[in-house]
Amino acid sequence: MPARAYVNGQYMALSEAAVHVEDRGLQFADSLYEVAAVLNGRLFDWQPHLQRLRRGAAALFFDGLPTDGVLTGIARRLVADSRLPDALLYIQVTRGAARRDHLFPRDVRPTLVMTIRGFDFAQRISQQSRGISVISLPDQRWARCDIKTTGLLPAVLAKQEAKAAGAFEAMFVANDGTVTEGSSTNMYMVNGDGAIITHPLSARILPGVARATLLKLARDNHIPVFERPFTLADAKSAPELFLTSTTAPVLPIVRVDADPIGQGQPGPVAARLAGLLWDEIERQTNWRV
Ligand SMILES: Cc1ncc(COP(=O)(O)O)c(C=O)c1O
Repeated sequence: MPARAYVNGQYMALSEAAVHVEDRGLQFADSLYEVAAVLNGRLFDWQPHLQRLRRGAAALFFDGLPTDGVLTGIARRLVADSRLPDALLYIQVTRGAARRDHLFPRDVRPTLVMTIRGFDFAQRISQQSRGISVISLPDQRWARCDIKTTGLLPAVLAKQEAKAAGAFEAMFVANDGTVTEGSSTNMYMVNGDGAIITHPLSARILPGVARATLLKLARDNHIPVFERPFTLADAKSAPELFLTSTTAPVLPIVRVDADPIGQGQPGPVAARLAGLLWDEIERQTNWRV
């Protein structure tokens, strides 16, 4: 599968792509990223990814991000050149390359990298029917988790710890006992009335693109949604839990640590929401399993 890359104006094979060793993304994680899904050769939920990138760029005082039209043109060319039907498009923007100094360099242009690699979305369907397990871990990240920076070390360590424990994901728990989100996913519980509860948007969580789409679909289909915090104890006694992300649209959680959730099997609310999300994917991209 021909993985491709774009780096500062040039298109190439991914294996040939490189950035400067003094890039601030490398030295300071002074850098933003996005991961967008390509299904059936089409970008899914593309505009919200661009909006989040632009919001992050404003929060970090990045100057000179190309227009949405330019970014979309690059993304479309990578999709076309790769000929990959199902893929992940990765975007990274850094403040640029300059002599190492914490202070913002003057007259530096952002480094813009995009890559595309094949991705198997169909694997998620079988995971969805089996359900996945997670482990709870303390949320040790910084205080601006709403900005999608490449400063991902706490997430990397947590995901590795989850894998070592045989789990799919780590569920982050803040000092006050609140479940914030997963290491690379948003987290939800279902209450006894079949309503969805998820952490409200704040600096403690990433505003997931899949989260926004899922909550809209739920509301449009008269499934009640409460954006309010819930605790690890609430989660463990909930009838259903699930997570969402661009790479894992809706996955039911059937175990947290050693504790089964509900009957220890995927529940009806998560199954319905997964169906609604796959329908939306099909509507936007014509993708079918
Ligand atoms: C911490 C965190 N939360 C949530 C998500 C899900 O976001 P999205 O739905 O935009 O993929 C991600 C995705 O990378 C993430 O890193």
